[in-house]
Amino acid sequence: MKILVTGGAGFIGSHIVDAYIEAGHQVSIIDNFATGRRENVNSQATLYEMNIKDPKVKTVFADEQFDIVNMQAAQMDVRLSVRDPLFDAENNILGMINLLQNCVENNVKKVIFASSGGAIYGEQEQYPAPETHPLQPYSPYGITKLTGEKYLFFYKLSYGLDYVAFRYANVYGPRQNPHGEAGVVAIFAQAMLNDQEVYINGDGLQTRDFVYVDDVVNANLLALESQHTDIYNVGTGKETTILTIYEILNELTGYGKSAKHRSPQSGEQRRSVIAYDKIAQQMDWAPHTELKTGLAETLKTMK
Ligand SMILES: NC(=O)c1ccc[n+]([C@@H]2O[C@H](COP(=O)([O-])OP(=O)(O)OC[C@H]3O[C@@H](n4cnc5c(N)ncnc54)[C@H](O)[C@@H]3O)[C@@H](O)[C@H]2O)c1
Repeated sequence: MKILVTGGAGFIGSHIVDAYIEAGHQVSIIDNFATGRRENVNSQATLYEMNIKDPKVKTVFADEQFDIVNMQAAQMDVRLSVRDPLFDAENNILGMINLLQNCVENNVKKVIFASSGGAIYGEQEQYPAPETHPLQPYSPYGITKLTGEKYLFFYKLSYGLDYVAFRYANVYGPRQNPHGEAGVVAIFAQAMLNDQEVYINGDGLQTRDFVYVDDVVNANLLALESQHTDIYNVGTGKETTILTIYEILNELTGYGKSAKHRSPQSGEQRRSVIAYDKIAQQMDWAPHTELKTGLAETLKTMK
């Protein structure tokens, strides 16, 4: 199949590109290198260096005639979205609409979209949250992800464009960015490997659902064949405290120093964990990587 992966120079997108190429697909990338890295770009992919909201995207779609468009490109820094909601919306909403219009004009068969299970539910009422949980994002970033899902619904309704939207939990692994939703892994690991202080915001008992990037990639492979147009959580269903992340990394690196606690971040969610029953039933997906194994793999590539 001919597949476009937007954000294919980024953390998750580049792993998806590698897996699609490995599976024999013909892959193109659109990335503006806002946070992506040249060394992440698979040499067998065709690279278009541009912003997803650029009108020139039209020419790429017309020339390439993609079967599937996998949308990973986004402004993904929650704190930046609070500081600059306009920039966030320009990239995440206007950029997405530009892509969707081109999908319809060029008969793309399916869109795969990276939404966020960590940011879309807000402070949860149920643990782990199923897809039916109330949607009350606490940040402009979470609002743009929810808006993206609503646009997908509109394009399916109006033009029959199929989609699979994945609400990723906190994704960690090699190539991850310290500003992402699982940024704490990269931040702690980097500090420990450089023998610097590790700072924990607040008591460290806030929780997240850490899912390894290979498991997320696997969901993106399954989505190519899936007959369902739907929204799925992609997480582990397990709540992990920030202190636990510190402890495992401490053990794996042999760092040995105590962490320093500093004041909590205002507006930070306390607990976040999502259920994966739906994707397990409909797409036969499950997370296979244990946290300690995934963290060890992440550390290997950072050393
Ligand atoms: N990392 C996580 O824990 C997590 C959790 C939930 C959802 N997501 C979503 O998954 C996707 C991938 O995230 P990531 O962690 O790999 O982030 P990333 O920043 O590593 O990757 C994003 C990529 O998109 C590119 N990009 C950003 N804005 C662009 C634009 N306007 N035009 C073209 N390219 C642009 C960046 O240069 C980068 O290569 C994002 O949509 C993000 O919101 C990530």
